[in-house]
Amino acid sequence: MSKFDSRVVLITGASAGIGAALAREFASEGANLVLLARRIEQLKAIADTIDPTGKRVLCLTCDVTQNGEVEKAVEFARTKFGNIDIAIANAGWSLKGNLEELSLSDYRRQWETNVFGVLRTIYATLADLKTTKGRLVIISSVKSYLAFPGDSPYSTSKFALRALCLSLSKELAPYGVSVTHVCPGYVATEIRRVDNRGVFQPDWSDPASPKLLKTPEQTAKEIVKAIDRRQTEQVLTLYGKLAVLMQRHFPWLLSWIISRWEIKVVAKKN
Ligand SMILES: NC(=O)c1ccc[n+]([C@@H]2O[C@H](COP(=O)([O-])OP(=O)(O)OC[C@H]3O[C@@H](n4cnc5c(N)ncnc54)[C@H](OP(=O)(O)O)[C@@H]3O)[C@@H](O)[C@H]2O)c1
Repeated sequence: MSKFDSRVVLITGASAGIGAALAREFASEGANLVLLARRIEQLKAIADTIDPTGKRVLCLTCDVTQNGEVEKAVEFARTKFGNIDIAIANAGWSLKGNLEELSLSDYRRQWETNVFGVLRTIYATLADLKTTKGRLVIISSVKSYLAFPGDSPYSTSKFALRALCLSLSKELAPYGVSVTHVCPGYVATEIRRVDNRGVFQPDWSDPASPKLLKTPEQTAKEIVKAIDRRQTEQVLTLYGKLAVLMQRHFPWLLSWIISRWEIKVVAKKN
């Protein structure tokens, strides 16, 4: 029997990148899948490669910024599979720029997906997770520890997720629900080719150094292991672990490095 045989796994943002790779990895471990995202055609294509019969996969259009959409999807999921065992709040994007180039509404748009979208996912699935003594997984980032100039919308959203996980891991423990805060480093996905309006730009190249990039598949394998162990936090990549260690124990050194090498995140074109 596979590790997650017949377990019901819900993943937001499953139409690309880490979410799609997690779907494939959980499918190989025998799970039933509830895949959510806005681009339904892309979701269906992924579902077809996993299970063309549609018995083990349910894909539904769902925008996590819209009240009620995750709840509606969860109702469909319950009808098809019963209660959810693992909820993975993965949907996210990255809005960049210096504060002075941005407006309050830019910060709101970033938080609407990256923070409130995660909260909507938690509220929609919590009753199920309490029933199944399940696992809540939040895909955050190494940037939940690091904040570079030009990156405050994204970093503030991920810092918020780290705080949320710290609180919820204690609040939900009495129900037997575990919380896993996942901090990937750079992964070769669409994220750095999504513009500040949230639109994927296929012609853009990924500015991250190929040497630092992990594949979504490697990342998903490691995340599934952490979920299996009900790990509280998982920091991925060696440089990610080093950066988190420095921020925890030598923040002055990290701050000096950022200033000395003028490390900054450059705003993307719209
Ligand atoms: N890749 C990295 O280097 C990296 C590093 C650290 C953390 N992360 C985190 O990993 C998570 C996944 O990112 P990724 O790298 O896989 O990026 P990606 O390839 O751009 O995928 C993002 C996914 O989120 C979905 N999404 C975006 N806005 C949504 C919304 N409003 N409602 C529902 N779904 C939405 C997208 O689907 P639709 O467009 O179809 O809705 C897509 O499936 C994010 O939370 C990101 O912050 C990524």
